[in-house]
Amino acid sequence: MPQDHRRAITEIAAALRTDPSVLFITGAGVSADSGLPTYRGVGGLYDDADTDEGIPIEEALSGGMLHARPDIVWRHIHRIEAATRAARPNRAHDVIARFQQRLTRAIVLTQNVDGLHRAAGATDVLPIHGDLHDLSCTACSWSTRVDDFEHLEDVPRCPACGALVRPDVVLFGELLPPGVVGRLERELDVGFDLVFSVGTSSGFPYIQAPVWLTRRRGGRAVEVNPDVTPVSAACTWRLKTGAAGAFEALEAAYLDA
Ligand code: OAD
Repeated sequence: MPQDHRRAITEIAAALRTDPSVLFITGAGVSADSGLPTYRGVGGLYDDADTDEGIPIEEALSGGMLHARPDIVWRHIHRIEAATRAARPNRAHDVIARFQQRLTRAIVLTQNVDGLHRAAGATDVLPIHGDLHDLSCTACSWSTRVDDFEHLEDVPRCPACGALVRPDVVLFGELLPPGVVGRLERELDVGFDLVFSVGTSSGFPYIQAPVWLTRRRGGRAVEVNPDVTPVSAACTWRLKTGAAGAFEALEAAYLDA
């Protein structure tokens, strides 16, 4: 580990021992260490210009397509679920969950729909892009939560009314879930002492904003990402490495004191 990383890890571990209020913001890079593809970058899901259907993925996985051609949306959703099904939480998910138990106030804001934070035992998770395992009817109030899609039809229909069933994930062109957004806004009003931005390209304003806000109010920020992102320059510490290794080292330093 480079010298500046070691120093940063010691300092972040010291900050965590003061029981700060913490927001962990996570993205696809956290699950990369569980073998899942990221959306952007090498091997990224959206890097193949077009889908099998010859249309961009942003169209194939859009709210409009769900109504026009639900079979296309569901084909891609089934593929994402198939990749997720084989995946297990890695040390980053595990350590984040354990820090949630140790700290008085620690919240996970994740863009990931894979459910791996919850699988690792994280308790307070805000899934801003939804969770693949939550299904609901597009016409009536029927909804359910499934462990996986093994017994799901290609294009599932509601057992109560026969209408189309959808996964409760945010498709392209759709609004964010209002309940999650409302909770995030309330928590940001209270504020955080420390924000982690982990494995995300930080492309969305609502993912960048907690970092800016926290820094402006005198809090500190950590970025865990091998790459540079729009929030990198604003972070107090940057760990330019994979999430699993970074969190393993961080927990070791925290417990070592
Ligand atoms: P991206 O694929 O945009 O970014 C993944 C980030 O993780 C990149 O910045 C990588 O450098 C970094 N990364 C890769 N491997 C890593 C590792 N082992 N450890 C740490 N970082 C690593 O993923 P997100 O930022 O999550 O939205 O993408 C945000 C949203 O874009 C997704 O939720 C999805 C997509 O559109 C919806 O589906 C609504």
